[in-house]
Amino acid sequence: MRVLSGIQPSGRLHLGNYFGAMRPQLEMQAEHECFYFIATYHALTSLNDRKLVEEYTREVALGYLALGLDPAKTVFFRQTDVPEVTELAWILSCVTPMGLLQRAHSYKDKIAQGLLPNHGLFAYPVLQAADILIYGSDLVPVGQDQKQHIEMTQDIQGKFNQAFGEVLVRPEPLIREEVAVIPGIDGQKMSKSYDNTIELFCGEKAARKRIMSIVTDSTPVEEPKDPDKCNVMALLRLMASKDEVAEWEARYRQGGMGYGEAKKRVFELYLEILGPARKRYQELQHKPEEIEAILADGARRARAVAAKTMRKVRKACGLVTVQD
Ligand code: TRP
Repeated sequence: MRVLSGIQPSGRLHLGNYFGAMRPQLEMQAEHECFYFIATYHALTSLNDRKLVEEYTREVALGYLALGLDPAKTVFFRQTDVPEVTELAWILSCVTPMGLLQRAHSYKDKIAQGLLPNHGLFAYPVLQAADILIYGSDLVPVGQDQKQHIEMTQDIQGKFNQAFGEVLVRPEPLIREEVAVIPGIDGQKMSKSYDNTIELFCGEKAARKRIMSIVTDSTPVEEPKDPDKCNVMALLRLMASKDEVAEWEARYRQGGMGYGEAKKRVFELYLEILGPARKRYQELQHKPEEIEAILADGARRARAVAAKTMRKVRKACGLVTVQD
């Protein structure tokens, strides 16, 4: 099975990225041939700032490697290092109905948040389809928010094959239900656009401050509390062992426990779970040449696959180039 996924470098990595996408992706390395990439072209749809694009691209590269991406096995690369993907995006856009793109939730959400409705943002799902289809991907592990984008990829793949023959492989999304939505410190979905994230690689003090400011209700310490309505508990469920979660639930229901205590435990678990990766991240910051070499090797391996798909695609569409 070929597995592919990407992360858009449009902000600092946070617990939502980790539990919802990166951890499940990294676990798949053991059994599958994985292609993971940094979606640099996608970042331009919302970031027109050179410094930030560079900074966040580095963040995603360091983050994946620090969290255990194995570049010897997994093909790890920057989207920009395989420019053929933009060629495929164009070709796919010619079989993509406008109505399909007009129904995209993520486009509508981004506009509602005040992003400029530029053409790149509108065409975002077509480029994502190209990312997936150019590598002949079978499985795409993503967070719940990406489900519709993968379904759109299936539609686009179907349209292409209907017009030009059985060339592109139909991908399936892989979404872990138990980590479908990670709540942020205010209880909404954790997302940089809501400014409610807990970052993976910020300073320890900053992480503690964020965790201690998780929003809770004003039930007094002595009174029983509902574990199913608590943002702190939602994080404990992701981070603590089953037994420990059961203990916290019992303590919530009993009363006599303050939310501060549970928050402190979230912070401890944060350091336990992310400690080793946070250390590696620091070390990797001093090794830019090593990171570049890994990405160059990934680009070479990814490009070989992409070039092959493109030869088939051009031929199927009746496009002739001197390269083929
Ligand atoms: N849209 C994805 C996100 O915001 C990033 C992405 C781009 C992606 N291309 C992809 C994910 C291809 C999976 C497959 O997280």
